[in-house]
Amino acid sequence: MNKNSFYIKTFGCQMNIRDSEIMAQKLSETGYIETSAPDDAALIILNTCSVRGKAEQKVFSMLGSLRKLKQKNPELKICVAGCVAQQEGQKIIDRMEHVDLVIGTQHIYNISELLSKSTNSKTAINLSDSYEIPRYIPHVGGSPALHDTGAQDEQFSKFVTIMQGCNNFCTYCVVPYTRGREVSRRAADIVNEIQTLVNGGVVEITLLGQNVNSYGSTNQVIDNPAPYSFSDLLADVAKIEGLERLRFTTSHPKDLSERLIECFDLLPNLCPQIHLPVQSGSDRILKRMNRKYTIANYLEKVERLKSIRPDIAITTDIIVGFPGETEADFQQTMNLLETVRYHGSFSFKYSDRPETRAADLDGKLSEEEKGRRLQQFQKRQDEISLERNREYLGSTLSILVETNSGGKMMGRTVTNHIVHVERAPLDMVPGTFAPVEIIHAGQHSLKGALTPGQP
Ligand code: 5AD
Ligand code: SF4
Repeated sequence: MNKNSFYIKTFGCQMNIRDSEIMAQKLSETGYIETSAPDDAALIILNTCSVRGKAEQKVFSMLGSLRKLKQKNPELKICVAGCVAQQEGQKIIDRMEHVDLVIGTQHIYNISELLSKSTNSKTAINLSDSYEIPRYIPHVGGSPALHDTGAQDEQFSKFVTIMQGCNNFCTYCVVPYTRGREVSRRAADIVNEIQTLVNGGVVEITLLGQNVNSYGSTNQVIDNPAPYSFSDLLADVAKIEGLERLRFTTSHPKDLSERLIECFDLLPNLCPQIHLPVQSGSDRILKRMNRKYTIANYLEKVERLKSIRPDIAITTDIIVGFPGETEADFQQTMNLLETVRYHGSFSFKYSDRPETRAADLDGKLSEEEKGRRLQQFQKRQDEISLERNREYLGSTLSILVETNSGGKMMGRTVTNHIVHVERAPLDMVPGTFAPVEIIHAGQHSLKGALTPGQP
């Protein structure tokens, strides 16, 4: 074991993936070295997710299995970061006395100082709110490939956090409690950071936030020269020369403005792809969820997007079995799926989360019933995804290569579809663009053949 080595396991969303990258970088700056083997590490960090009950259980079961490692090696330090840390705090130590450090979601930048405070097996906890996001979060160094995060670990495609937190308080959601209120970074800092990345060879940027559409809104901590909205930021970022692909995630439908929709027409490097979580197809349930839009509002925006960019790929999140969801409500979600024909979706059984209002609502459904609805939804979504993917058969698309190992190549289209290519030349390295003809469509990916010309 190297006494300076650390291992990070990341659970959950892209925000956590980015936070792990930042912690890895901060630790590397103070002499730590990242390892991919937890058994070799002197420090193990679990960057945790608590958005659904299952995600949280995974964290506790992994912590349980680390107990043995700690017994074998009492010098080992175990740190819990992320949303479970923020939510459970002291309770983690009460349950798991082998944990040395619990740090909240807003303290990742200070990980090195906090670690040095947790010496002599005294546990340090830091959960307080602090609205500081560093003005500049450099993307240098670190050890790609270790976080298992796909292209974003590579030097050609990066996530850039533009805002954190959430003010929406959807009744099922723990994020406003674990991530705190919305804070937007200064636009000039974001643009400078992306310029530096692009100068270093990055060609794809994903702007990241819990609700990017409300970037810069007046009820946030921000010091942009107002008014400056997310559409303004997109336009300024899109101007950066050499930035081939620009994406953003995640959007709240209520904040998807007409100006933002028009960006898909006006900004040539803004990829025709949007993740637009709808959660339910029933207005009654949307109201109980505090989503602040109706299905009619939502569909109007979807239609505008499709008319402006007919090639746009729309994906969504769905919760089935929200408290009080009747069979008729659920059928409205199924109907919505038929209307929008999402390219893909993430769907979940509703689960109670601490502090959320939905946890106290009447009308909880049984696990069996939620399971049945989930299966029905996912089965139909899979069929639609396949039908959608077949629409690409015979077309030639440009993919951004992510991996090429011995001629087995994988890349993504502008719509974020994964394409596998066999027998690719080895000089098509990650980060390059390749024109491919789509020759096979599966549910979750496409197969392509290289075409000699340009798409
Ligand atoms: N139960 C089930 N799914 C949830 N999500 C958020 N909170 C819950 C919950 N309590 C889902 C939503 C959200 C996605 C990230 O996770 O669909 O968009
Ligand atoms: Fe959670 Fe709703 Fe905020 Fe999304 S918008 S993070 S679902 S509270």
